[in-house]
Amino acid sequence: MPDKEPIGVIGVGWVGLVTAACFADLGHEIFCRDIDAAKIGLLESGQMPFHEPDLPELVKRNSERIHFSTDMRDVLEKTRILFVCVDTPPTYSGDANLSRVDAVVSELETERGHSLVMKSTVPVGTGRAVERRLAEAGKQVAYVSNPEFLKEGSAVKDFMNPDRVVIGGDPGSQDGAADAVAALYKPLGCTIVRTDVASAEMIKLASNAFLATKISFINEIANVCEEVGADVQEVAGGMGLDKRIGESFLSAGIGYGGSCFPKDVSALKQLAGNSGYHFQLLNSVIEVNELQKRRVVRKLKKHLGTLVGKRIALLGLAFKPHTDDMREASSLVLAARLQGEGAHVQAFDPVAERQAQELLAGAKICDSAMEALKDADAAVIVTEWPEFKELPLEELSKTMKNPLIIDGRNMLDREAVRDAGITYEGIGR
Ligand code: UGA
Repeated sequence: MPDKEPIGVIGVGWVGLVTAACFADLGHEIFCRDIDAAKIGLLESGQMPFHEPDLPELVKRNSERIHFSTDMRDVLEKTRILFVCVDTPPTYSGDANLSRVDAVVSELETERGHSLVMKSTVPVGTGRAVERRLAEAGKQVAYVSNPEFLKEGSAVKDFMNPDRVVIGGDPGSQDGAADAVAALYKPLGCTIVRTDVASAEMIKLASNAFLATKISFINEIANVCEEVGADVQEVAGGMGLDKRIGESFLSAGIGYGGSCFPKDVSALKQLAGNSGYHFQLLNSVIEVNELQKRRVVRKLKKHLGTLVGKRIALLGLAFKPHTDDMREASSLVLAARLQGEGAHVQAFDPVAERQAQELLAGAKICDSAMEALKDADAAVIVTEWPEFKELPLEELSKTMKNPLIIDGRNMLDREAVRDAGITYEGIGR
């Protein structure tokens, strides 16, 4: 059997490192490059730069096949297929910042027939622009779009069991390159969608924007449920059974966060606007999400009156469970809003403690949920870490000054909470 194709991975953030580890597990030799020497140093010494389930084991198991470097030449010499996994953060205008993608393109050499496989989320049209730049510079590099659909917290499982893999290549010289990328995913046995570059880029943005729309939609339904006495979880369950709707991403809560939805919804809105089209629906999706984070403050005031001097415990700070990522987390907006109202914030997250120390200025970051709950006037569940289901409710009702829980993720058994003498309020219930 011929050796498997060696693969280059540029940028070892969440997407890059998961891609590297999973392809290594499928038997490929992987050459990773990142400009962050500290991160490369950590990885070389066997440590993980962030929390992601299953990833440490996968990297360890395949350590002989995964190589790390800060030098692009190492990757260019050893591989032909280069997965670009650098970040594309939003700029002040809401457009994506492509400077890191541009830097990678500049570093490619002319002599060898590399394929540049874009996994970073980029605006529609980026592929064509990069292809033009490569051609003008006389670089024989093929361009393939291969957007990622990995969820933080289950990224390894998502990579190994994808709903689909999308591969975009433009007709002509690109055909062979796109075929070679498709072949890499063959062992996964999943549906492979072959399309043009622009459509592949749009599939990614439209998928994230649609999922964010689903969340803002159910959050608005939740808000109406509160007005009319319905229960959003019953409603979502009943809706989700309709196959046309589907049950996922219908969990009402205090809004979506993370490095993807907020950025990609805004990037798609901006992309449409730049082309002269006003994407009205996305404006509402964004606005609903912003307001949803702030509704918790109203709920607290309803029970406590003024928040001046009140101690509020925030349970869960990461933007979702099973990650330590706090980018665009609802906890950040909520903590700042509560502090703005004069409240004291005492917060706990099972894994995001280090990030919280940096980002939540003025808040007390606690080592346990019970410490955060001590003498609190109210607790807000911000992130649905499974361990919060196991909180000792009787003990909790005694340790809190005023036993009140606002369940921002509808995760607790409200009858059990109420039976323990704690006032309970969820979202849309
Ligand atoms: C998202 C997409 O789900 C991935 O397919 C995509 O690859 C990724 O963005 C990306 O573009 O890189 P991720 O941001 O990791 O993945 O996390 P999600 O599980 O999608 O959750 C996003 C946010 O929505 C979280 O704050 C979560 O709490 C919230 N959410 C999710 C809800 O409020 N309700 C739901 O029903 C589902």
